[in-house]
Amino acid sequence: MSHNKKALFIIFGGTGDLAYRKLYPALYKLYKNNYLNENFAVIGTARREWSDSYYQEVVFDSIQEIKKSDEDAKQFASHFRYQSHNVNDTENYISLLKLADQLDEEYDIEGNRVFYLSVSPSFFGTVSSHLRAENLITKNGFNRLIIEKPFGTDFVNSDALNNDILESFTEEQIYRIDHYLGKEMIQMLLALRFGNPLFKQIWNKNFISNIQVTLAEDIGVEERGAYYEQSGALRDMVQNHVLQIVSFLFMNEPESNDSKSIRKAKVEALKDLKAINKENINLNFVRGQYSTSIEDSEILDYISEHEVDPESDVETFVAGKIESAHENWEGVPLYIRTGKRMRTKKTQIDIVFKQTTTNFFPKNEVKNNILSIHIGPDEGLSLQLNNKKIGHAFDIEPVHLTYKPSADAPDDYERLILSALTGDKTNFVHWDELAESWKYIDSIREAWIEADSPLYLYEANTNGPKEANELLENDENNWFWN
Ligand code: BG6
Repeated sequence: MSHNKKALFIIFGGTGDLAYRKLYPALYKLYKNNYLNENFAVIGTARREWSDSYYQEVVFDSIQEIKKSDEDAKQFASHFRYQSHNVNDTENYISLLKLADQLDEEYDIEGNRVFYLSVSPSFFGTVSSHLRAENLITKNGFNRLIIEKPFGTDFVNSDALNNDILESFTEEQIYRIDHYLGKEMIQMLLALRFGNPLFKQIWNKNFISNIQVTLAEDIGVEERGAYYEQSGALRDMVQNHVLQIVSFLFMNEPESNDSKSIRKAKVEALKDLKAINKENINLNFVRGQYSTSIEDSEILDYISEHEVDPESDVETFVAGKIESAHENWEGVPLYIRTGKRMRTKKTQIDIVFKQTTTNFFPKNEVKNNILSIHIGPDEGLSLQLNNKKIGHAFDIEPVHLTYKPSADAPDDYERLILSALTGDKTNFVHWDELAESWKYIDSIREAWIEADSPLYLYEANTNGPKEANELLENDENNWFWN
């Protein structure tokens, strides 16, 4: 079946790692699945001097593992053109316009344009204003601007960045990517919460004891030391991915499932987060940095990584206790943790339900019901229940009901690019959400400075400093996944 979409993609940052690893394979999957047929073209731009044929080889190379056949991959790559581009040079936009119009005609695209900014945020404003001034924005089709993170470094900076972009594009035309919103299991969270009376009725303080969100990575900062020195784990992971998850977990049921209602509910949830300040920061947030005691190991201390200051006190790990002031959530801590060089790659949400008080079983026999949402690398759900052990006695044991989605679920970028093509903004970050999340993150950063919060070193390949466990132990809780 054909769901053919017509669009010209102009990718700023076309020689970059993200384009190679994510965008080209995602576009190819859309091509393979008939969302893109003949009526699409891609212009890659970056500083480097590449020829069209070299660019097409790179694209061909990027889809080696997923291609149907060499011929199919070549046919796909033939839709790609390259322009060496200096984002500040007006002349370059004039030649870009020429090429864009030519491809529009050649592939009968009818003026639909997707501008993809995978470049430093300091260029967002310049590129958007040139696109408007040099008439790359068409009158006959849709014009959408996809923006990669990081969207600024704090509220003030991202607000200024946003205002710059708004001079050339409307909020409706802006698609801010948080690739977590393209993940199958994040989207499933809403189905789970609102599609099942079983969970819908008990998603509150009366039944939930605590919630645990883990975004653990086993890799270090790799080649991104310079970027990471500016961001740290708080801005790299908590401001976006973690707070998006938090808003899905805490939000009230939206009035309907359209993007506006969902966004409204998410923004309200973010606004309800209890304030962090210098008095409560050290009780609620822990910052850590990886190190290693193993000499000659291939694993380096963070401070020995490429382009990292040897005296850096940037955090590579954050754990926190987030609370909502909403009456539904009184007394329910939502613990989060994320870090580099942890024991293994694991992205998981655990909803820990309260234990029942029953005379039927002595209390310690009955375990908590726990709903685990496995976001990656393996996707799925599991639900811990109490069951009778098979046998003559009447003993209780925990069992796990599990579900795994089919292996061929679309991947995050494929899903998000398709949403941008269809104009569905549900899984993109609206400015209102971004503004709230930056304000929360700023308050943590400021409080860390004012309270002179310690930075705890943790051994690589562990789950972070022990202080992250104490955060839960102080409330008589424990990380379910460890
Ligand atoms: C990115 C961060 O947003 O998310 C990276 O910049 C991190 O530092 C990545 O590695 C993790 O994404 P995923 O999908 O692998 O969990």
